[in-house]
Amino acid sequence: MASTTPSRQKATKTASFIDTGLNNFQLWALQNPEKPLSKTLLPIINFIEGLVANTPTYLDYKRLVLGSNFCCAGQVVMGEFAAIERALTSPQARTWRLGTSILAKNHLPNQDIDGRNVFLLALSDVGAGGSNDHEAFRRCLQDYITNDSAIARQQDLIARKLLDQLAKDYIDMPHGPGGAFFSDDGRGWKRFLIRYIHYVLFGLNPDDQETMDFLTDVHYTRLGTLHYFAVVSNILERLNIAGHKKMPELIYRTATIYENSPALANFDEQSDRYNGMTRRELVKLMTSILSIAALQGPLHLGQTAMGDRPLPAYEGRNTSNIKPTDYWDQLDLEDRESVRLYLLECSRLWAPVSASHKIATDSFTVMIAGEEQTFPVGTKILIPMSLGLLNEDFWGSTTYEFDANRENLCPYHMGFHSVGDRSGGRICPGKDIAMNMLMDVIVTVGKARRSISGSKIT
Ligand code: HEM
Repeated sequence: MASTTPSRQKATKTASFIDTGLNNFQLWALQNPEKPLSKTLLPIINFIEGLVANTPTYLDYKRLVLGSNFCCAGQVVMGEFAAIERALTSPQARTWRLGTSILAKNHLPNQDIDGRNVFLLALSDVGAGGSNDHEAFRRCLQDYITNDSAIARQQDLIARKLLDQLAKDYIDMPHGPGGAFFSDDGRGWKRFLIRYIHYVLFGLNPDDQETMDFLTDVHYTRLGTLHYFAVVSNILERLNIAGHKKMPELIYRTATIYENSPALANFDEQSDRYNGMTRRELVKLMTSILSIAALQGPLHLGQTAMGDRPLPAYEGRNTSNIKPTDYWDQLDLEDRESVRLYLLECSRLWAPVSASHKIATDSFTVMIAGEEQTFPVGTKILIPMSLGLLNEDFWGSTTYEFDANRENLCPYHMGFHSVGDRSGGRICPGKDIAMNMLMDVIVTVGKARRSISGSKIT
């Protein structure tokens, strides 16, 4: 049965010929997916626009010129606040996408070794036509990795030592925009994330230099994340850029390190509770999750919150002139709730993960450019969390300004693939760990920042 979603937010700026042409072609092609022209051109548009749309201002600009609903990267963007809220709190059917980007199916676990698909982001929910694999594999990850022991490790002496080292690095290293504190792989922010996240999630020894060097190389130095993206990974592999020919071997070795970690010492192989997920399947899943999610989301939010880069230059707004560090310097660092809201506001103005996706399990009708448009079952739908986080109907006239005390920031934040704590079962399972860690970072590094003379604060 078809469902209808009205569109209230109209375009407020004139679209260029390219904006309109791209939108209109995709609109037609998505409604006529079997036509030869659709089959030829849509994949190319999927790929190219999918990459470009990762720039943080892209979707916001498209909304300005095309209205709340439009087509982008081979998907229908449903940008109304209520539509995003509905999508985040109901079951989703999935394919090989990360927001607007296309994922390399044959590189993801365990398709890379002709095994079954255990990659959570590409598994559909029970209520949207999936088997219960998504629920079972996710349960396994939560029971063994993002569990109470991980939260406890975040509060122990080893974690404290890592935070203190980070504060020391902050003082010792250039930490203004683009500074070595943010870009260096051997010290500073990236090295902290590698050591801290692997300690907290797996119980690995952060002082094991050889292992930490190896994991830094796989996930950051070699840009391991890109191994999971379609086309890009093939180019990297073929030309052996950053040694990508070796990625399958490095992934094998990474998974083996995780397999032998304290967190999985008592793993129950073949449990029905986890649809028989094996230890090897879980660590292969985790290898991809570390590269794509756990070491990227916090990296980016930390860069924003600690002033590594300006906020995005949204069209017609002054957001890029805001310096989050000015607000950091005014925060009461003893008040953890204020620190949480500071981080949520940073990630509202620049969401580390801007969008997610789902597949239509029914035909549906939306208003695009003032006209009702109907799309068939199977159409890819983009869930643009960033547009929800920047929706003026919801957040009001201060949407593009910095106000960590704004109403509803916590209960309606969409940055972790949920609406506050409400979700359809796909809220980021690393949310609490990431937020606890980032709060500790902002407090500890914030104190170090205040301890150095005013002239050094940048
Ligand atoms: C600031 C930090 C982080 C942000 C903003 C973030 C955001 C997100 C978002 C938006 C999704 C949904 C993606 C999609 O379905 O298309 C997601 C999924 C996921 N995240 Fe995070 N994440 C962060 C940190 C972490 C950490 C530290 C972990 C560690 C385990 C993690 C593990 C996962 C996993 C396993 C999924 C897949 C969940 C599922 O499909 O059921 N994330 N995250």
